[in-house]
Order: sequence, then C-alpha cells, then structure tokens
Amino acid sequence: MSVEFILNGRRASLQAPPDSPLLWALRDEKDLVGVKFGCGAGLCGACTVIIDGQQVRSCVTPVIDVAGKSVTTIEGLNGEVAKAVTEAWIRAQAPQCGYCQPGFVLAATSVIATDPKQTSEQVFSQITNLCRCGTYDAIRLAVGYALSSLQGAESQEKGAAR
Ligand code: FES
Ligand code: FES
Repeated sequence: MSVEFILNGRRASLQAPPDSPLLWALRDEKDLVGVKFGCGAGLCGACTVIIDGQQVRSCVTPVIDVAGKSVTTIEGLNGEVAKAVTEAWIRAQAPQCGYCQPGFVLAATSVIATDPKQTSEQVFSQITNLCRCGTYDAIRLAVGYALSSLQGAESQEKGAAR
C-alpha cells in the first residue's frame, strides 16, 4: 500500500508498511537524514518533523498517519518564521555536536509560527526536546533572537503603513 502526502511542499508517497515509524520511512525511502534517531520512544525530539503545522515525533508516528497531510523536515523548512529561526540559531551559535538541532529548529519554528508575539519563555516551555550537549541556554537565546526579529519586522511594517 502506498501512502500519499505532501513532503516538503511536493506530492510524495511512501511504500513502507503503514504501521512502520515515519522516522525510518523518511530516512530510508526519502534519504532525509536530517530526521534523527535518538530514543525511538517519543522522548528526546531528535526525530521531530512538522505535520500540518504541529511539531510531531516521527519515531512514534506510523506512516499511515501522514496520509493526506503536509510533512516538513529540516531539509524543506522555509518561510518567514523558519528564516528568522535559522538565522537566530546561527547568531546564537546554538549547536555543539549538532545532532539534536534539526529537531529543536523544527519544534521552535512550529511553536513560534502559531503566534510570533509569544514571549521566549512561552515558546521555550513548549519545546520539550533534549540535548545531550546541554545547549539549552543557547537555544533559549536563539528563540529570543527569532522572536525579536519577527516582532521587529512587524512593528516596522506597521510604522511604514502609518
Ligand atoms: S527519536 Fe523520536 S523522540 Fe527520540
Ligand atoms: S548539540 Fe549535541 S546533542 Fe544537542
């Protein structure tokens, strides 16, 4: 059985058994190796993808669950919020080994996209990913940079419209 869905903005299908984890289907069938395996139990967030705007742990998501939905991995992340987040990550020099970082970037992007006017703490409280290198302070900083950038862009737009 083939599962049809949108992957990084394009129509795609997966041939993997419908109950197999999305994580492995994306890595093995689609070669999207930015989706990382950490715990395999929904705990660490290394395997985070965005499905219809929500951060989702792909290691505990069966392939059948994405039928007809839109899946974004780090390889296909784009848009205003994603740009602000990735630039903020670079500015804050968040990664150490980097293994967990795609998951953090996707989680932050999905949370911030729901409301860019949130505070850093509100955003950070919705990110439950784990980092074995302990980059949490840098990630907190990056989230703040991303919000400032997005909120600054909005006030500039308002100013120009006056
Ligand atoms: S590998 Fe999926 S949550 Fe850890
Ligand atoms: S940067 Fe190494 S695990 Fe997070």
